[in-house]
Amino acid sequence: MKYLTPGPIQLPDFVLKAAYRQPAFHRSDEFKQTLKSVLDKMSKVYGGTPVVMPGTGTLAVDTMVYNYVNPGERVLAIIFGEFGKRLAASLKSRGAEVIEWEVEAPPAPDEVDDRLRRAGPVAAVVLVHNETSMGIAYKDLAKVIDVVKSHGALLLVDSVSGMPAEPLPPGIDVVATASHKAFMAPPGAAILFLNAEPRAKAGVPPAMDLRGYLKVPSTLDTPYTPPIPVIYSLEASLEYILGLGLARYAEIHKERMDVLYGGVKLRPVPKPEHRSNTVAAFYCNDVKLALKALRDAGYVASAGMGHLKDKVIRIGVMGDVSKDDLTKVAEVLNNVARE
Ligand SMILES: Cc1ncc(COP(=O)(O)O)c(C=O)c1O
Repeated sequence: MKYLTPGPIQLPDFVLKAAYRQPAFHRSDEFKQTLKSVLDKMSKVYGGTPVVMPGTGTLAVDTMVYNYVNPGERVLAIIFGEFGKRLAASLKSRGAEVIEWEVEAPPAPDEVDDRLRRAGPVAAVVLVHNETSMGIAYKDLAKVIDVVKSHGALLLVDSVSGMPAEPLPPGIDVVATASHKAFMAPPGAAILFLNAEPRAKAGVPPAMDLRGYLKVPSTLDTPYTPPIPVIYSLEASLEYILGLGLARYAEIHKERMDVLYGGVKLRPVPKPEHRSNTVAAFYCNDVKLALKALRDAGYVASAGMGHLKDKVIRIGVMGDVSKDDLTKVAEVLNNVARE
């Protein structure tokens, strides 16, 4: 079986083998060298202080919310899918006053500017960079960063299924992501990039308190036990990704998407200009049948989410996936599925 899922993804052998060893004691010099190597590599992926902590994508997002938003603060949430709704739910659990702006597709920078003018002062704007439930990526973020800054707000971004295969412009205050999607490692590490000081006044559980992580790149002393096997795998996958170069890594994913969107005759969920590099989504009349046909051909794909559960099929192209795999997937779907 090959996993063409939105994550966890099909991992190459060299990444799996890297994790298959006795975890070192995390206070040992041996482990600190590995941690340094991973954090140095992370710094080549995005600016700011990199944080690698135990957890998954949800934990990374909740950690971002709890460290950068205080109860009672107003926050604008731009929502165009299920993970945007979850981000808003996280903010509500923090006690923030959330302005939920539901849109069909990522709004243009001038629309964000206009919405912020109407909203009045907000502490932060939050959004999902790569909306996994819809196969939609926010491509126009560079100008959105400037707009949000011009309103004096922080920009907090969930890029759990985007980074580093879906390009992310520099200058975002906080990015939350995870190990098991485009970072091409097993689940178990929540990853953040901090370009602003954590600003929570209280109410952050110790395991989620980012202040404990700020000095890790220099001291290599993690506050608690880190996800050691995942860090071994991340060292191998980052070596590979950076060896290719970030631009080429993103381009490879885009090429895979072109095979899929060029071959599958079902109606795509995203408009061409919003297509994610990592997850494709198509409307499908019989999702169960399509998933079974793919399974019979050796591929695991995924149904839609929320109200699209029985209407959409999603295919991830991250990890050990070839263009031949995707040509085969298109053939199978074209034989069994209708829009
Ligand atoms: C955009 C996005 N945010 C958050 C999450 C939650 O991540 P996890 O399931 O690893 O907790 C996911 C998972 O698919 C995601 O795609």
